[in-house]
Amino acid sequence: MKKLLIILVVLALSVGTVFAAGTVVGSKHDLRGTGGGTATNAALIEVCVSCHTPHQATAANKQDPLWNHTGTATTGFGVYSSVTMNASPANIGGSAMGSQSVSMLCMSCHDGTVSVISMYNPPNSGNSAAATTITGRINVSGFIVSNANIGTDMTDDHPVNFTYDAALVTSDGGLQPVASVSAYLIGGQVQCASCHDVHDPTNVPFLRLNNTGSALCLVCHIK
Ligand code: HEC
Ligand code: HEC
Ligand code: HEC
Ligand code: HEC
Repeated sequence: MKKLLIILVVLALSVGTVFAAGTVVGSKHDLRGTGGGTATNAALIEVCVSCHTPHQATAANKQDPLWNHTGTATTGFGVYSSVTMNASPANIGGSAMGSQSVSMLCMSCHDGTVSVISMYNPPNSGNSAAATTITGRINVSGFIVSNANIGTDMTDDHPVNFTYDAALVTSDGGLQPVASVSAYLIGGQVQCASCHDVHDPTNVPFLRLNNTGSALCLVCHIK
């Protein structure tokens, strides 16, 4: 019995290692001048620093993961609504920087109004002031101009920034129970990171799950 248990534990550990293969290094979120997926900061040799800093993270964002990227000035993103919606999403930029939703971190690059290389605490190891353009992807100001620019209007996007709880499951009638979805919730809520893993490009585009057969959608929706 003990032996079997040890074998099972070893198996579980090795399976874990196999699936934890994805890394932000070399992905489109790697903005280094050489070797990166979006080579737009000519002097940059570090990867994490575009988004995080070990010291002097922006005070306004201190509850977020040591955030280092310049925030967007956009506040009124609007909210998706429809006659069949049961949840009540909140505007992701509705409150002062620092108390708003974690999805705002993504929008500091993805609303297309801030340079992707603009940081609060630039690295000492090297940093360009001017962004290198990439035709059809990054413009001269460092803004995203590909279809990854999802804009400043969230009324036409899958709703984010609302609580997924038992009451919502009951009122909707077509949602999976909270227990089977909880691994995809961020503080009990649906946010960008419910569907995306910003650090893992394995399932393009940075999806938390391979969406073949719409498997990701079916994590939450019974359809
Ligand atoms: C393009 C931006 C970006 C880059 C580059 C990036 N991160 Fe993150 N990271 C985020 C965002 C956004 C979050 C917030 C939570 C989430 O969405 O997963 C986060 C969360 C985290 C967290 C806390 C939550 C967790 O998943 O454990 C850690 C730790 C972290 N990042 C470490 C790193 C390290 C180490 C690197 C470099 C090897 C890195 N990140 C590169 C954007 C980035
Ligand atoms: C530091 C800026 C920055 C932040 C912060 C950031 N991204 Fe990105 N993201 C980029 C850039 C640059 C690209 C590449 C755009 C292009 O080349 O078309 C990209 C591409 C993507 C893509 C498309 C990937 C593909 O394979 O086509 C997705 C999806 C994405 N990001 C999701 C997110 C999510 C979700 C968050 C927050 C959790 C986030 N990003 C935070 C800069 C950022
Ligand atoms: C309910 C799941 C879900 C949520 C929530 C979500 N996305 Fe996505 N996102 C997807 C899927 C699935 C795709 C791929 C779509 C495709 O291939 O047609 C995608 C594609 C993208 C792309 C690539 C460009 C494009 O339009 O295909 C970007 C950038 C992106 N998402 C950013 C974000 C950001 C930022 C947020 C939060 C504001 C967010 N996503 C919230 C599921 C989601
Ligand atoms: C993390 C859980 C989760 C994932 C993953 C997810 N959704 Fe959703 N989605 C929700 C919730 C919760 C709502 C709000 C339902 C409501 O209030 O009626 C919603 C709303 C929607 C709506 C709008 C419903 C309406 O009544 O207007 C559509 C359509 C939708 N999702 C499709 C998708 C698709 C397609 C995917 C996969 C790309 C997906 N969802 C992935 C949780 C999720």
